[in-house]
Amino acid sequence: MQNAATISHLIKEFPAGDESIRVLHDINAEIRMGELTMLVGPSGCGKTTLISAISGILSATSGEVDILSHRLSRMSDKEKVLFRRESIGFIFQQYNLLPALTAAENAAMPLIAAGVLDEEAADRARVILEHIGMQGHTEKLPRQLSGGQQQRVAIARALVHNPKLIVCDEPTAALDAKTGQAVMEILRDIANDTNRAVLIVTHDNRIYHFADRILEMSDGRIIGDYATDAFIHKEKL
Ligand SMILES: Nc1ncnc2c1ncn2[C@@H]1O[C@H](COP(=O)(O)OP(=O)(O)OP(=O)(O)O)[C@@H](O)[C@H]1O
Ligand SMILES: [Mg+2]
Repeated sequence: MQNAATISHLIKEFPAGDESIRVLHDINAEIRMGELTMLVGPSGCGKTTLISAISGILSATSGEVDILSHRLSRMSDKEKVLFRRESIGFIFQQYNLLPALTAAENAAMPLIAAGVLDEEAADRARVILEHIGMQGHTEKLPRQLSGGQQQRVAIARALVHNPKLIVCDEPTAALDAKTGQAVMEILRDIANDTNRAVLIVTHDNRIYHFADRILEMSDGRIIGDYATDAFIHKEKL
């Protein structure tokens, strides 16, 4: 089985005055199809930078990322944008909802970008929204929703076009325990499909058990690759 993503000797530096700071040091990792992989580690260790480099939002300083049979370094910026739009669903810390669109319209955006007609796209978005506890809120504007409800709109938007890879940065951070579990159950189902993969950055130890594998980062490096049970056991010691 092909990996969803293979990361080889990835280095990322950011400019800092006349110098540069290295934030990712020689990262090697595999994100496998049919798995839910979590990426954990302290604040500032490079998790968001790594998932941004894996998904081609940030370009690597050196090293390679192969993702869903594409080598990022061989793609133009425009190709990367089109590829991301079609194949990756993002759930990021900022929800980036469009203020003039309803919850259903926001969640339908990836389908509309793919050419699905507005009404059908909104209907498909409503189904997912209702599945994650948004009954009665699908026609509201973002400013009429709580933070956790806005996050659920962003989650529905990431899932609506059935992307092969879902990349999430703290998807449960703004959610109560029950909604967080509901969202994780959806992501778990997606990762059970052998042709899809889910990659989640999280600090939330209440959701670790949904993972197949946990990659631990520290200071710009991956310092451990664990089966979930082994990681949970280690954390309890
Ligand atoms: N655009 C940037 N320019 C310069 N430095 C950056 C940039 N983005 C991130 N960094 C630095 O890279 C390091 C890693 O940041 P990153 O956001 O990846 O951490 P993180 O593990 O996601 O942290 P958190 O858990 O707080 O979200 C930090 O020291 C951060 O200050
Ligand atoms: Mg982060």
